[in-house]
Amino acid sequence: MWKVQINHFNEATIVHHGNQFLIGNGKMGYRGTLEEFNKEQLVGLNLPGLYDQFEDKWRESVNAPNPFFTQVKFGGQVLNPLLLKPIQHEQILDIKKGIHSRETSWMLNNTMITIQSERFISMVQKDLMVMKYSVTVDQLAELVIETGIDGAVWDINGPHLENSDVQTIDNILVLNMNTQELKIPVVVSEGILTNKDVNENINLDHEQIMRSLKLTLKKDETFTFYKFASIKQGESSNEATLETKAAMEQGYEVLYQEHVEAWDDKWKLADVVITGDEEAQFNLRYSIYHLLILTPTSEYASIPARGISGQTYKGAIFWDTEMFMLPFYLNTDLEAANKLIQYRVHTLDGARRKAKEYGYRGAYYAWESQETGDDACSHFNVTDVFTKRPIRTYFRDKQIHISGDVVYGIWQTYLRTMDLNILINGGAEVIMECARFFYSYGYYNLDQDRFEILDVTGPDEYHERVNNNAFTNRLVLETFTILDQVLTLLKEHKNNTYQQLIETLNFEADYQKILEITPKLYIPQANDNHVIEQFDGYYKLEDVSVEEVKSRLVHPNEYWGGGNGVASSTQIIKQADIVTMLYLFKNDYTDGVKKANWEFYEPRTEHGSSLSACMYALVACDNGNPNWAYPYFMKTASVDLTGKTKQYAGDIYIGGTHPAANGGAYMTAIYGFAGLNIVDDQIQLTPQLPDHWNSLSFKLVLKDECYQITIEKDKTTIVKE
Ligand code: BGC
Repeated sequence: MWKVQINHFNEATIVHHGNQFLIGNGKMGYRGTLEEFNKEQLVGLNLPGLYDQFEDKWRESVNAPNPFFTQVKFGGQVLNPLLLKPIQHEQILDIKKGIHSRETSWMLNNTMITIQSERFISMVQKDLMVMKYSVTVDQLAELVIETGIDGAVWDINGPHLENSDVQTIDNILVLNMNTQELKIPVVVSEGILTNKDVNENINLDHEQIMRSLKLTLKKDETFTFYKFASIKQGESSNEATLETKAAMEQGYEVLYQEHVEAWDDKWKLADVVITGDEEAQFNLRYSIYHLLILTPTSEYASIPARGISGQTYKGAIFWDTEMFMLPFYLNTDLEAANKLIQYRVHTLDGARRKAKEYGYRGAYYAWESQETGDDACSHFNVTDVFTKRPIRTYFRDKQIHISGDVVYGIWQTYLRTMDLNILINGGAEVIMECARFFYSYGYYNLDQDRFEILDVTGPDEYHERVNNNAFTNRLVLETFTILDQVLTLLKEHKNNTYQQLIETLNFEADYQKILEITPKLYIPQANDNHVIEQFDGYYKLEDVSVEEVKSRLVHPNEYWGGGNGVASSTQIIKQADIVTMLYLFKNDYTDGVKKANWEFYEPRTEHGSSLSACMYALVACDNGNPNWAYPYFMKTASVDLTGKTKQYAGDIYIGGTHPAANGGAYMTAIYGFAGLNIVDDQIQLTPQLPDHWNSLSFKLVLKDECYQITIEKDKTTIVKE
């Protein structure tokens, strides 16, 4: 099964289907809406690496004008399921090929009119979108088809594009605009080819650049047109027009074929095959589909927390990328993994600026990072549902673990490749600056003779400004340890680079101080019940159930955290926190500690973030309980199929796709159920399949070799391909 399919139209699910039927290629994302829809239905052509700020609103990624807009008129009636109930409707996403299609029929004036479309964003030519659109009638009929570029764009904090200038060049429609803030040109151009000559008028209205095709169709005749659209960022209309023309010359079939072949190549390495559980198989493949359409195309852009599904969360990059998505790319597409790392290298100066802004040294990475690495996160990131006033949140200034997450990601990439270039080409500098930041952030507690990390927010965002969050402290320890390993490596193998870095960063004294302080860093330990306190004083909070806390909500979208949130004074946490630490540092903890903490924290976790379930699944597997892991795996692997996630934090819309959960599903399959561990280039597996699975197989790229790994009930095979 490779298809997501719906067989009827339901207005209530338009927004969810926009996410569920999303197509893309890393550089662009196009929501799964119908061609006749507009910004009211959240049509979105998202450009994830391009950001803009309008007036003093939140800076966010840019959505481009929609070159696929098409509507059919018959007898003065627009064929749109919102205006006229269709007699049949189906929408399909083929995740094997990255192709969206739909078929809808209406009965009007005793005539059945059927629209079919098929569209894709080329996996080969990254600025190109292609569509085939057909209309069939069962009676002689006169129709008008309006198709062109819809310049009325759905924005959350826009408008982001200005100065629209429209042109036609050799019958190609071109819309030139630029972003408000940095004046970066955005050009959308489209050309069409038809299967028969038609009477065409072009209307160059700035918001709706439309072709109007008038046609008379005979009984059972089908009219088809093919649309080729090129979207250019930072380039001129000339480039866009040339690309559109070239695509028209290549034709639909050729472009379709090269696109499908590119998808085929991607799946060859990325697919994970489960036998014995079709639902799990489909959910996992669907998650991998999302990771594939997010494959970064530039080292100056990374993967936003809501992927390419729109502007939610400002199109910004969070810790989600390093901790939840990077493992997939490390196993299947090292080039992509390197781009993600390079993005952090290129945004180091932004992280330095942020550290300075708060009075620290080193690099404090943005909680919500965009192209420069400056923090897009606001100090008031949630709106109160009652008063409509902004709530002071501490994601931006206190979620310091982000710098450790970046270090962790770089080090994982190095360990996988053992390629010193990762460190030499900026990785080491990032690690040094992050370690320096933590050193400057920490406090030395003279009385207890220990180095503490105070006033932070851990992954559980409902408890802000806490002291000694175990996860954060452990990550700081990891950063210091990695720093020492990196500098020792460089000194030994690349002494020139080592000397140069120490000198230019003036790092000698900090290095020594960090080495001294590392053994003094306070790492909260398990108590007599083997449970680790999430932060100082956590046990003193009210011990109530998630249901009880939920029942205290006055409004369903009320924010649970912040100073007055329902969860803040209780032990109810938003997402895996200690449990994430147990997964990341699994070798530090005994099975007993893992089990005790899982059992203690799970009933106290709201799973209010899509990043939570997979961590519980991973630790359950590590603990030898794959059947405990299974429901969490299914939850994480199906988030974007079911759409069952929080849509609002306070008054702020947070819907869209969930790449971290998609990555978490992949991680659970590979690191949980297959129990993959790579130590010194050796593949180790500790399989723990859920009882009803027969087998699990996948590919792994390691040091330029590709391995096929198959786990069956009674045997495991690793074959070099
Ligand atoms: C979670 C964060 C996450 C962010 C983006 C928040 O709801 O608490 O951990 O990074 O969403 O996915």
